[in-house]
Amino acid sequence: MNNNTNPFVTVGYASRKYFCDRESELEIMQRNIQNEINITLISNRRLGKSALIYRLFETLEQENYVCIYADIYDSLRLKDFTETLALAIFNRFPEKKPLGKRFLTFLKSFRPVITYDALTGEPEIHFEFSHQKEYEHTLRSIFQFLDNQQVKVVLAIDEFQQIASYPETNTEALLRTIIQTLKNIQFIFSGSKKHLMAEMFNTANRPFFSSTQMLGLSEIPKIKYAQFIREKFEERNYTITDEAIDFVLSWTFAHTYYTQLICNNVFARREKNVTVEIVKHVCDEQLSLQQVSYMQYHNLLSPVQWRLLIAIAKEVQVSEIQAQNFLRKYKIGGASSAKKALEALLEKEMICSIETPDKTFYRVYNVFLLRWLERRF
Ligand SMILES: Nc1ncnc2c1ncn2[C@@H]1O[C@H](COP(=O)(O)OP(=O)(O)OP(=O)(O)O)[C@@H](O)[C@H]1O
Ligand SMILES: [Mg+2]
Repeated sequence: MNNNTNPFVTVGYASRKYFCDRESELEIMQRNIQNEINITLISNRRLGKSALIYRLFETLEQENYVCIYADIYDSLRLKDFTETLALAIFNRFPEKKPLGKRFLTFLKSFRPVITYDALTGEPEIHFEFSHQKEYEHTLRSIFQFLDNQQVKVVLAIDEFQQIASYPETNTEALLRTIIQTLKNIQFIFSGSKKHLMAEMFNTANRPFFSSTQMLGLSEIPKIKYAQFIREKFEERNYTITDEAIDFVLSWTFAHTYYTQLICNNVFARREKNVTVEIVKHVCDEQLSLQQVSYMQYHNLLSPVQWRLLIAIAKEVQVSEIQAQNFLRKYKIGGASSAKKALEALLEKEMICSIETPDKTFYRVYNVFLLRWLERRF
């Protein structure tokens, strides 16, 4: 990144220079990896799990770990999982290096179809087996191949909860059995569907029960984020007032993605001295841009779900969804229909839950939608 680029990254990971805090999480993760403890990383969406994994990889690669990242969000079955894993390894080891050559030769024994996307040039790997067992065998062999390369490997499987919805019922057990035999590969399982992840790792009769160190990610502390924002503006010879920074962080609840997006848009205006008025203007602009798509939700949700969504937005966060005064105030109806609507909104990821030591709160998942609903109704 040169000095003209925007220092507020909104997609993926750039480098540690543009990455804020997460010091204690990084320390814990690094310690676990060094002590051969697998990690489960859980948080609500867009708080920075994937970026944190990339940031950790940057450090681990310097310590001679070979780090591989596989995102299985789009995978629907074991076939997809196997192909994604093969592709992640294929991408990690350039064909010209000895390990890359070995992997390609090994891979070819499974007769994969390797194609390249016409637009992006990105490779794709497909296996066309007729029996389920062949995918299992391939998967086992890929893990064994990696394990035998005399290198320390860290494999991050992002959106890991996906495997719980594969039609093959034994995927969890299969993976757990394979993983137990490996000596040189460590795992980071990360996911945003908190209850699915917690069920997989915390339920006694599930294969992954108690097999990893759990790490929950929450918002970056406001003090740290404020310092980071100020620094990034000042490094480029801009100023930003404390009031402007405070406004961003309370408006976005310091939720990483939304904070980055607002800061990116504020920076993009290249105003030498950033005031709270400029920030407010950028926030308004974002809401107007999204307005059309937010209107659609009205048609997509049932009347109770819609009213509950507005009610939660207006309260910002709610813990007692079934409390009479809350139901009455927003004309939501009976407690049981409110509960059903809440479940539907959680399932659709319109609402997220925030766990604190004494209570669970519910909040509109998308911060911009929350601010729009709050203002519009
Ligand atoms: N510590 C950080 N400092 C600066 N930017 C960050 C940080 N963490 C994440 N980001 C940025 O915030 C955005 C969201 O992060 P990321 O995609 O890692 O979240 P996620 O939890 O993996 O989301 P999802 O659940 O949707 O996959 C990205 O643009 C990323 O660059
Ligand atoms: Mg992610």
